[in-house]
Amino acid sequence: MHDGLKDIEGFEISFHEKSKRIINIKIEDQIIERLIFPFKKFDITALEYKPFTRFTIAKSLDDISSGKLGDYINSILKNRNTGCFIVGPKNLSSKIDQTFLVKLSTAITHLIGNPNHDSMAGKYYARFHVKHEDDSDSYLRKAYINMDLHTDGTYVKEKTDWLLMSKLEEKNVQGGETTLLHLDDWEHLNELFYDKAGRQNFTWSSPKSKNIDYKVEHPVFFEDEKGRAQISYIDQFPEPKNMEQGLFLQKLSDSLEESKKKLIIPLPVGSSIVANNYFWLHGRKSFKENKNLSRELLRIRGSFFNN
Ligand SMILES: [Fe+2]
Repeated sequence: MHDGLKDIEGFEISFHEKSKRIINIKIEDQIIERLIFPFKKFDITALEYKPFTRFTIAKSLDDISSGKLGDYINSILKNRNTGCFIVGPKNLSSKIDQTFLVKLSTAITHLIGNPNHDSMAGKYYARFHVKHEDDSDSYLRKAYINMDLHTDGTYVKEKTDWLLMSKLEEKNVQGGETTLLHLDDWEHLNELFYDKAGRQNFTWSSPKSKNIDYKVEHPVFFEDEKGRAQISYIDQFPEPKNMEQGLFLQKLSDSLEESKKKLIIPLPVGSSIVANNYFWLHGRKSFKENKNLSRELLRIRGSFFNN
Protein backbone atom coordinates (compact mmCIF):
# COMPACT_ATOMS: atom_id res chain seq x y z
CA MET A 1 0.00 0.00 0.00
CA HIS A 2 1.56 3.26 -1.15
CA ASP A 3 0.54 6.79 -0.35
CA GLY A 4 -2.19 7.69 -2.82
CA LEU A 5 -3.10 4.09 -3.58
CA LYS A 6 -5.93 2.18 -2.00
CA ASP A 7 -7.10 -1.43 -1.82
CA ILE A 8 -10.57 -1.94 -3.24
CA GLU A 9 -11.63 -5.50 -3.95
CA GLY A 10 -12.13 -6.12 -7.64
CA PHE A 11 -10.00 -3.15 -8.72
CA GLU A 12 -6.33 -3.13 -9.67
CA ILE A 13 -4.99 0.22 -8.50
CA SER A 14 -1.52 1.50 -9.32
CA PHE A 15 0.46 4.57 -10.28
CA HIS A 16 0.54 5.30 -14.00
CA GLU A 17 3.86 4.31 -15.55
CA LYS A 18 4.40 7.88 -16.81
CA SER A 19 3.63 9.76 -13.58
CA LYS A 20 2.78 9.11 -9.93
CA ARG A 21 0.31 11.97 -10.19
CA ILE A 22 -1.99 9.76 -12.27
CA ILE A 23 -3.70 6.76 -10.69
CA ASN A 24 -4.62 3.78 -12.86
CA ILE A 25 -7.81 2.02 -11.82
CA LYS A 26 -8.48 -1.22 -13.68
CA ILE A 27 -11.87 -2.78 -13.17
CA GLU A 28 -11.63 -6.54 -12.93
CA ASP A 29 -14.02 -8.90 -14.72
CA GLN A 30 -15.99 -9.81 -11.59
CA ILE A 31 -16.99 -6.16 -11.09
CA ILE A 32 -17.93 -5.74 -14.76
CA GLU A 33 -20.13 -8.86 -14.46
CA ARG A 34 -21.90 -7.41 -11.44
CA LEU A 35 -22.50 -4.06 -13.17
CA ILE A 36 -24.29 -5.55 -16.15
CA PHE A 37 -27.60 -6.18 -14.40
CA PRO A 38 -28.00 -2.78 -12.66
CA PHE A 39 -26.85 -0.99 -15.82
CA LYS A 40 -29.59 -2.78 -17.83
CA LYS A 41 -32.24 -1.15 -15.67
CA PHE A 42 -32.12 2.05 -17.75
CA ASP A 43 -31.52 2.73 -21.41
CA ILE A 44 -29.53 5.73 -22.61
CA THR A 45 -32.70 7.75 -23.28
CA ALA A 46 -33.78 7.31 -19.66
CA LEU A 47 -30.36 8.51 -18.49
CA GLU A 48 -30.67 11.54 -20.75
CA TYR A 49 -34.25 12.46 -19.85
CA LYS A 50 -34.37 11.49 -16.17
CA PRO A 51 -31.31 12.78 -14.32
CA PHE A 52 -32.08 10.81 -11.14
CA THR A 53 -31.50 7.51 -12.98
CA ARG A 54 -27.84 8.50 -13.36
CA PHE A 55 -27.51 8.58 -9.59
CA THR A 56 -29.09 5.14 -9.36
CA ILE A 57 -26.41 3.59 -11.57
CA ALA A 58 -23.68 5.59 -9.80
CA LYS A 59 -24.89 4.15 -6.48
CA SER A 60 -24.76 0.63 -7.97
CA LEU A 61 -21.14 1.20 -8.99
CA ASP A 62 -20.26 2.47 -5.53
CA ASP A 63 -22.07 -0.39 -3.79
CA ILE A 64 -20.31 -2.97 -5.97
CA SER A 65 -16.97 -1.40 -5.01
CA SER A 66 -17.66 -1.96 -1.28
CA GLY A 67 -18.80 1.67 -0.97
CA LYS A 68 -15.22 2.83 -1.47
CA LEU A 69 -14.85 3.96 -5.08
CA GLY A 70 -16.73 7.25 -4.78
CA ASP A 71 -14.70 8.51 -1.82
CA TYR A 72 -11.48 7.35 -3.41
CA ILE A 73 -11.92 9.04 -6.80
CA ASN A 74 -13.02 12.26 -5.09
CA SER A 75 -9.90 12.21 -2.94
CA ILE A 76 -7.69 11.67 -6.01
CA LEU A 77 -9.29 14.55 -7.91
CA LYS A 78 -9.12 16.99 -5.00
CA ASN A 79 -5.56 16.11 -4.00
CA ARG A 80 -3.23 18.68 -5.54
CA ASN A 81 -0.44 16.06 -5.83
CA THR A 82 -2.54 13.76 -8.01
CA GLY A 83 -5.79 15.18 -9.42
CA CYS A 84 -6.07 12.65 -12.23
CA PHE A 85 -7.02 9.01 -12.76
CA ILE A 86 -7.53 6.64 -15.65
CA VAL A 87 -10.28 4.09 -15.14
CA GLY A 88 -11.52 1.31 -17.37
CA PRO A 89 -12.14 -2.41 -17.69
CA LYS A 90 -9.02 -4.52 -17.18
CA ASN A 91 -10.17 -6.77 -20.02
CA LEU A 92 -12.44 -5.93 -22.92
CA SER A 93 -15.21 -8.35 -23.86
CA SER A 94 -18.32 -8.36 -26.00
CA LYS A 95 -20.34 -7.33 -22.93
CA ILE A 96 -18.49 -4.03 -22.85
CA ASP A 97 -20.16 -2.27 -25.76
CA GLN A 98 -20.55 1.45 -26.30
CA THR A 99 -23.81 1.59 -24.36
CA PHE A 100 -22.09 -0.01 -21.38
CA LEU A 101 -19.26 2.51 -21.63
CA VAL A 102 -21.65 5.48 -21.73
CA LYS A 103 -23.30 4.10 -18.58
CA LEU A 104 -19.97 3.45 -16.87
CA SER A 105 -18.80 7.02 -17.63
CA THR A 106 -22.11 8.34 -16.35
CA ALA A 107 -21.84 6.33 -13.14
CA ILE A 108 -18.26 7.48 -12.50
CA THR A 109 -19.06 11.16 -13.02
CA HIS A 110 -22.14 11.00 -10.80
CA LEU A 111 -19.95 9.87 -7.92
CA ILE A 112 -18.00 13.14 -8.37
CA GLY A 113 -20.51 15.83 -9.17
CA ASN A 114 -23.16 17.14 -11.47
CA PRO A 115 -22.45 17.30 -15.19
CA ASN A 116 -22.75 20.59 -17.05
CA HIS A 117 -25.14 20.76 -19.98
CA ASP A 118 -22.94 20.20 -23.04
CA SER A 119 -24.23 22.77 -25.50
CA MET A 120 -22.43 21.19 -28.43
CA ALA A 121 -24.50 18.02 -28.00
CA GLY A 122 -27.53 19.36 -26.13
CA LYS A 123 -27.11 16.68 -23.46
CA TYR A 124 -25.23 16.06 -20.23
CA TYR A 125 -22.49 14.40 -22.32
CA ALA A 126 -21.16 14.69 -25.85
CA ARG A 127 -20.08 11.90 -28.19
CA PHE A 128 -18.06 12.86 -31.22
CA HIS A 129 -15.81 11.36 -33.89
CA VAL A 130 -12.38 12.33 -35.04
CA LYS A 131 -11.92 11.28 -38.67
CA HIS A 132 -9.71 11.86 -41.67
CA GLU A 133 -11.89 14.65 -43.01
CA ASP A 134 -13.34 17.50 -41.01
CA ASP A 135 -15.09 20.76 -41.81
CA SER A 136 -15.77 21.92 -38.25
CA ASP A 137 -14.67 25.23 -36.76
CA SER A 138 -12.48 24.19 -33.83
CA TYR A 139 -9.44 21.99 -33.22
CA LEU A 140 -11.52 19.34 -31.45
CA ARG A 141 -12.06 17.21 -34.57
CA LYS A 142 -9.01 18.16 -36.63
CA ALA A 143 -7.03 14.91 -36.66
CA TYR A 144 -3.81 16.14 -38.19
CA ILE A 145 -3.31 19.22 -36.07
CA ASN A 146 -1.90 19.12 -32.58
CA MET A 147 -4.50 20.16 -30.02
CA ASP A 148 -2.50 22.37 -27.69
CA LEU A 149 -2.59 22.07 -23.91
CA HIS A 150 -5.69 23.71 -22.49
CA THR A 151 -8.40 23.46 -19.85
CA ASP A 152 -12.11 23.01 -20.58
CA GLY A 153 -15.02 25.34 -19.87
CA THR A 154 -13.04 28.53 -20.55
CA TYR A 155 -15.93 30.15 -22.44
CA VAL A 156 -18.96 29.02 -20.38
CA LYS A 157 -20.58 30.42 -17.26
CA GLU A 158 -20.84 27.07 -15.48
CA LYS A 159 -18.10 25.95 -13.11
CA THR A 160 -15.96 23.29 -14.73
CA ASP A 161 -14.16 21.61 -11.84
CA TRP A 162 -13.40 18.33 -13.61
CA LEU A 163 -13.63 16.62 -16.95
CA LEU A 164 -13.94 13.04 -18.13
CA MET A 165 -12.91 11.82 -21.57
CA SER A 166 -13.70 8.24 -22.57
CA LYS A 167 -12.48 6.43 -25.65
CA LEU A 168 -15.44 4.49 -27.00
CA GLU A 169 -13.90 3.16 -30.19
CA GLU A 170 -10.88 3.47 -32.40
CA LYS A 171 -9.90 2.18 -35.86
CA ASN A 172 -6.79 2.69 -37.96
CA VAL A 173 -5.27 5.05 -35.44
CA GLN A 174 -1.63 5.85 -34.97
CA GLY A 175 -0.72 8.89 -32.89
CA GLY A 176 -3.45 11.05 -31.41
CA GLU A 177 -2.25 10.36 -27.85
CA THR A 178 -3.56 12.43 -24.95
CA THR A 179 -1.11 15.02 -23.64
CA LEU A 180 -1.26 16.17 -20.03
CA LEU A 181 0.60 18.69 -17.92
CA HIS A 182 0.27 19.26 -14.16
CA LEU A 183 0.81 22.95 -13.32
CA ASP A 184 3.25 22.13 -10.52
CA ASP A 185 5.47 20.21 -12.95
CA TRP A 186 5.61 23.09 -15.43
CA GLU A 187 9.01 24.81 -15.63
CA HIS A 188 7.51 28.25 -16.36
CA LEU A 189 4.75 28.29 -13.75
CA ASN A 190 6.17 30.96 -11.47
CA GLU A 191 7.16 33.26 -14.29
CA LEU A 192 3.68 33.22 -15.83
CA PHE A 193 1.63 32.91 -12.63
CA TYR A 194 3.21 36.07 -11.20
CA ASP A 195 2.91 38.03 -14.44
CA LYS A 196 0.28 40.74 -13.82
CA ALA A 197 -1.14 40.34 -17.32
CA GLY A 198 -2.42 36.86 -16.48
CA ARG A 199 -4.52 38.18 -13.58
CA GLN A 200 -6.45 40.67 -15.72
CA ASN A 201 -9.82 39.83 -17.17
CA PHE A 202 -9.74 38.41 -20.67
CA THR A 203 -12.77 38.08 -22.93
CA TRP A 204 -13.58 34.50 -23.98
CA SER A 205 -15.89 33.55 -26.82
CA SER A 206 -16.39 30.41 -28.90
CA PRO A 207 -17.12 29.40 -32.49
CA LYS A 208 -20.60 28.55 -33.75
CA SER A 209 -20.45 24.78 -33.24
CA LYS A 210 -20.24 25.24 -29.46
CA ASN A 211 -23.73 26.83 -29.40
CA ILE A 212 -22.83 29.41 -26.77
CA ASP A 213 -24.22 32.83 -27.63
CA TYR A 214 -22.50 34.87 -24.93
CA LYS A 215 -18.98 35.83 -23.96
CA VAL A 216 -17.43 35.55 -20.53
CA GLU A 217 -14.69 37.48 -18.75
CA HIS A 218 -12.09 35.95 -16.47
CA PRO A 219 -8.35 35.96 -15.90
CA VAL A 220 -6.06 33.15 -17.05
CA PHE A 221 -4.57 32.57 -13.59
CA PHE A 222 -6.19 32.67 -10.18
CA GLU A 223 -5.45 31.23 -6.74
CA ASP A 224 -7.06 28.40 -4.81
CA GLU A 225 -7.86 28.75 -1.10
CA LYS A 226 -4.21 28.02 -0.27
CA GLY A 227 -2.79 30.51 -2.78
CA ARG A 228 -1.75 27.84 -5.28
CA ALA A 229 -1.94 28.47 -9.01
CA GLN A 230 -5.04 27.55 -10.96
CA ILE A 231 -5.53 28.10 -14.67
CA SER A 232 -8.40 28.51 -17.12
CA TYR A 233 -6.94 28.71 -20.60
CA ILE A 234 -7.30 27.56 -24.19
CA ASP A 235 -5.52 29.06 -27.18
CA GLN A 236 -8.47 29.44 -29.55
CA PHE A 237 -11.04 31.34 -27.52
CA PRO A 238 -9.59 34.37 -25.70
CA GLU A 239 -9.97 37.70 -27.51
CA PRO A 240 -6.98 39.80 -26.47
CA LYS A 241 -8.03 43.40 -25.80
CA ASN A 242 -4.60 44.91 -26.41
CA MET A 243 -0.93 44.23 -27.13
CA GLU A 244 -0.17 43.29 -23.51
CA GLN A 245 -2.82 40.56 -23.48
CA GLY A 246 -1.85 39.34 -26.96
CA LEU A 247 1.81 39.00 -26.06
CA PHE A 248 1.01 37.37 -22.72
CA LEU A 249 -1.10 34.70 -24.45
CA GLN A 250 1.63 34.05 -27.02
CA LYS A 251 4.23 33.63 -24.28
CA LEU A 252 1.91 31.35 -22.31
CA SER A 253 1.16 29.21 -25.37
CA ASP A 254 4.85 28.87 -26.27
CA SER A 255 5.97 28.03 -22.76
CA LEU A 256 3.25 25.41 -22.31
CA GLU A 257 3.98 23.69 -25.59
CA GLU A 258 7.75 23.62 -25.12
CA SER A 259 7.47 22.08 -21.65
CA LYS A 260 9.54 18.95 -21.19
CA LYS A 261 7.13 17.87 -18.44
CA LYS A 262 4.25 17.29 -20.82
CA LEU A 263 3.11 13.67 -20.48
CA ILE A 264 2.11 11.64 -23.52
CA ILE A 265 -0.52 9.12 -22.52
CA PRO A 266 -2.03 6.54 -24.86
CA LEU A 267 -5.58 5.94 -23.60
CA PRO A 268 -6.84 2.36 -24.11
CA VAL A 269 -10.20 1.81 -25.82
CA GLY A 270 -12.88 1.53 -23.12
CA SER A 271 -10.94 3.68 -20.65
CA SER A 272 -11.71 7.12 -19.29
CA ILE A 273 -9.37 9.81 -18.12
CA VAL A 274 -10.70 12.04 -15.38
CA ALA A 275 -8.82 15.17 -14.31
CA ASN A 276 -9.09 18.19 -12.10
CA ASN A 277 -9.61 21.05 -14.56
CA TYR A 278 -7.85 23.74 -12.46
CA PHE A 279 -4.33 22.35 -12.27
CA TRP A 280 -4.16 19.81 -15.11
CA LEU A 281 -3.99 20.90 -18.74
CA HIS A 282 -4.81 18.44 -21.50
CA GLY A 283 -4.39 18.20 -25.25
CA ARG A 284 -3.92 15.73 -28.08
CA LYS A 285 -1.05 14.92 -30.40
CA SER A 286 -1.80 14.85 -34.10
CA PHE A 287 -2.73 11.55 -35.75
CA LYS A 288 -0.74 9.81 -38.45
CA GLU A 289 -2.60 10.33 -41.70
CA ASN A 290 -4.95 7.52 -42.67
CA LYS A 291 -8.11 7.83 -44.81
CA ASN A 292 -9.90 5.23 -42.66
CA LEU A 293 -8.93 6.75 -39.36
CA SER A 294 -11.78 6.87 -36.84
CA ARG A 295 -11.96 7.54 -33.12
CA GLU A 296 -15.08 8.05 -31.07
CA LEU A 297 -14.90 9.90 -27.79
CA LEU A 298 -17.30 10.78 -25.02
CA ARG A 299 -16.83 13.76 -22.76
CA ILE A 300 -18.52 14.95 -19.60
CA ARG A 301 -17.57 18.07 -17.70
CA GLY A 302 -19.01 19.29 -14.43
CA SER A 303 -18.73 20.65 -10.92
CA PHE A 304 -18.04 18.92 -7.62
CA PHE A 305 -21.03 18.22 -5.36
CA ASN A 306 -19.60 20.02 -2.37
CA ASN A 307 -19.12 23.43 -3.94
FE1 LIG B 1 -10.53 19.81 -23.83
